[in-house]
Amino acid sequence: MDQLLKQIEAYKKEIGSFSATDDKQVEEFRIKYLGTKGLVKMIMGEMKHVAVAQKKEAGQLLNEFKLFVENKFESLQKSPGNQQPGSSNTIDLTLPGDPLPLGSRHPVTLMRNRIVSIFQRLGFAIAEGPEIEDDWHNFGALNLPEHHPARDMQDTFYVQQNPDWVLRTHTSNVQIREMEKGKLPIRMIMPGRVYRNETVSARSHCFFHQVEGLYIDENVSFADLKQTLYFFVKEMYGKEVKVRFRPSYFPFTEPSAEMDVSCFICGGSGCNICKKTGWVEILGCGMVHPNVLSNCNIDPNKYTGFAFGMGIERPAMLKYGINDIRLFSENDVRFLKQFTSVL
Ligand code: PHE
Repeated sequence: MDQLLKQIEAYKKEIGSFSATDDKQVEEFRIKYLGTKGLVKMIMGEMKHVAVAQKKEAGQLLNEFKLFVENKFESLQKSPGNQQPGSSNTIDLTLPGDPLPLGSRHPVTLMRNRIVSIFQRLGFAIAEGPEIEDDWHNFGALNLPEHHPARDMQDTFYVQQNPDWVLRTHTSNVQIREMEKGKLPIRMIMPGRVYRNETVSARSHCFFHQVEGLYIDENVSFADLKQTLYFFVKEMYGKEVKVRFRPSYFPFTEPSAEMDVSCFICGGSGCNICKKTGWVEILGCGMVHPNVLSNCNIDPNKYTGFAFGMGIERPAMLKYGINDIRLFSENDVRFLKQFTSVL
């Protein structure tokens, strides 16, 4: 009997100091002490070894103990994890926090930001303009009068509501809008979305993105154009990349050129990306045509300027090894979440 008493006292101590931080531990408590194979049941079983004369006293003691355990269980259930007054066991401050779901930038945005930031370092400001544009800003002012054959270079979407409106085929419309403001000099970079009525395939889409640049001041020369683009290429593709200019034609620049860089996939030895030529075309450029300056009330005898334009999707595809341009606009999160940086 004495021994039983001692045992019960020891168990009471153990049980009294038990604390639980969650429901799982409360359940463990129940199984350990109140379960069918638990401690209370086992101690109750001790009754049969108690002498008859002491049975009444022992019975009281055991009932009391059972009640003690049941009360403890109830209080654990009511406030799991808060068994010590003044302190909370529910929060373990040493555990790492729950991760926040992080988004990622669209690969076109990443590439756009990279291109833009290189020119920003050269002092170019960002300008943007409308995607629904009138004929004058998309074509006319850019030295593409009505019926000019070069209009066929860009298959155009017309807006049914108003025959004078088009979905801009290039971001050059922003050049006109900036020049019209009459504030010179101009040193601007114009990123944006453009539209062309082309069959959608793995290589071309009916909309894509461009970055155009415009620099107008006194005494701006073709040498300035080349130096600016050399700097861009070195920053963008690395110091070892070679550059070449090929004569070309755009109605809004004279002279005009296209710029190639040595293939950054194969290093110039020839691969599928550069179609075995060793060169990849990345942009069109030239000296702003005097007619364009006059159209915007800028005196072509006083001012000269250069302009250039490049797509964003193609360099992004090359950079990331993306083989289908349609992936950019399908909004498949499995695709989109793969891109973090272009640096
Ligand atoms: N606007 C031209 C295009 O979309 C690109 C370009 C811009 C070329 C500026 C020369 C100068 O193809």
